[in-house]
Amino acid sequence: MALLEIKNLTVTFDTAAGPLRAVDGISLSVDAGEVLAIVGESGSGKSVSMLAVMGLLPWTATVKADRMAFEGRDILNLSPAERRRIVGKDIAMIFQEPIASLNPCFTVGFQIEEALKQHMGLDRKARRKRAIELFAAVGIPDPEDRLGHYPHQMSGGQCQRVMIAIAIACNPKLLIADEPTTALDVTIQKQILDLLMQLQAEQGMGMIMITHNMGVVAETADRVIVQYKGRKMEEAGVLSLFETPEHPYTRALLSALPENATGDRLPTVSDFAFEDAPYKGDRA
Ligand SMILES: Nc1ncnc2c1ncn2[C@@H]1O[C@H](COP(=O)(O)OP(=O)(O)OP(=O)(O)O)[C@@H](O)[C@H]1O
Ligand SMILES: [Mg+2]
Repeated sequence: MALLEIKNLTVTFDTAAGPLRAVDGISLSVDAGEVLAIVGESGSGKSVSMLAVMGLLPWTATVKADRMAFEGRDILNLSPAERRRIVGKDIAMIFQEPIASLNPCFTVGFQIEEALKQHMGLDRKARRKRAIELFAAVGIPDPEDRLGHYPHQMSGGQCQRVMIAIAIACNPKLLIADEPTTALDVTIQKQILDLLMQLQAEQGMGMIMITHNMGVVAETADRVIVQYKGRKMEEAGVLSLFETPEHPYTRALLSALPENATGDRLPTVSDFAFEDAPYKGDRA
């Protein structure tokens, strides 16, 4: 049984300019221990589709799906209370903007201990011990001391680590990482990616890695979904995607990698015409 299974997900926002279809019939599944990458340009609905899974979209969003199930259990029609019991514990998400997702009014220690209290039912002493362990695991120096810091007292990279620590605090079965390294400088990017992949392997987590970086895909993913304008353009194992990209949009993404550059200028995705090319179907 798949860890997460989504069939025909659509998300429509009610906007002043009329309805906006941000996600247009996405289907996907992730197994335990598997890393699924979702790639695609800005605005292609990557974050929105995952926020729909988490139940974190604003009320202006209408979410529909033929199926959205976690470990075989429907999660689309859960009551908010039932949903909270799963989301944040069994499914955790590292948000795209770490600093915006931490609460500026509380210390980072309070925020991670709150997650441990809500979902793990640990007492005060056990929470503190676990929080220190988690901060150490994500490479935050002087973890005990850091628990008393507020988000604004920490760098972007440190906040990102705090977010990761909170996300993995309750040993989630599925971790959704939304551009977990984009906000960071290159040396820290590599450290954070290595850390995530280490945790993923150790805990056998299923993982959805959202990125627009094909280099990150090559390093982390087992399988890849290429998304464009809210639709799935292509789905394939990471090797077949890189070796024989079927879809023009995928080829465009790949040729925008620096190592694939041929002329004196890096091509961008908009240099290619692919809008009318149909979905090519799933490959192994
Ligand atoms: N709250 C909202 N209200 C209206 N439209 C929204 C809202 N949130 C997102 N959108 C729109 O939905 C579409 C998909 O956005 P989404 O954030 O999922 O893109 P993305 O693929 O994650 O892009 P990026 O790579 O920049 O993170 C965009 O057109 C965006 O403007
Ligand atoms: Mg996004």
